[in-house]
Amino acid sequence: MEETTVIKAYDRLARGYDHLFGPIFNPGRRRIIERMGCQGGERVLEVGVGTGLSLPYYPQDTAVVGIDVSDKMLAVARERVARQGLDNVALHRMDAQAMAFEDDSFDTVVAMYVASVVPDDARMSAEMRRVCRPGGDLFVVNHFTHHNRHVRRLERLVTRATPFLGFDADFPLEPFLQRAGFRVLTIEPVNLGGYWSLIHARNEAA
Ligand SMILES: C[S@@+](CC[C@H](N)C(=O)[O-])C[C@H]1O[C@@H](n2cnc3c(N)ncnc32)[C@H](O)[C@@H]1O
Repeated sequence: MEETTVIKAYDRLARGYDHLFGPIFNPGRRRIIERMGCQGGERVLEVGVGTGLSLPYYPQDTAVVGIDVSDKMLAVARERVARQGLDNVALHRMDAQAMAFEDDSFDTVVAMYVASVVPDDARMSAEMRRVCRPGGDLFVVNHFTHHNRHVRRLERLVTRATPFLGFDADFPLEPFLQRAGFRVLTIEPVNLGGYWSLIHARNEAA
């Protein structure tokens, strides 16, 4: 998808997003934050933070920065942050494929349900690695193309609705990992019947 199509799709979805994609994706959001094992004082970056559904799950002593390209998704996230008094969160409008942060700015960088949305996932992954400190943690949760050919056929049909849905349902795991260049530690199934995958990688020292 082109950037303008992505922004249009999420600006349109913003007000109904939490109903459509809240509970169904929450187990993956929670699992990632559990896996981070925050001890206090960590700096975490969430790329494509959307309406900020994950933000209340972080401990208050973890500094979280969320970025997104959709002003309307960010507006919902800002309301949540204000309503719940999440003083540990900062939000910015920024492209995950070309971030304004210095190298090694974060201990942990995470992309929840974003990899099959951004126009260029390889650029996003390269940026995630750049802004994460050497030895830090990278997390991605996403749906990847199913191994069952019948399900796969359905996913290919669904891709026709990509500009409206805002994501690509036909998104194979292996090529994504190759483009990302992540040193993968674990991949675990999450959400409904394990249809989504949670990838945990370690950022290589430069
Ligand atoms: C499926 S939503 C996921 C939102 C959130 N992470 C969640 O768990 O619900 C994908 C989000 O990625 C954002 N996005 C798409 N392309 C982006 C980019 N290049 N940079 C930053 N955010 C982007 C969209 O605006 C949208 O908010």
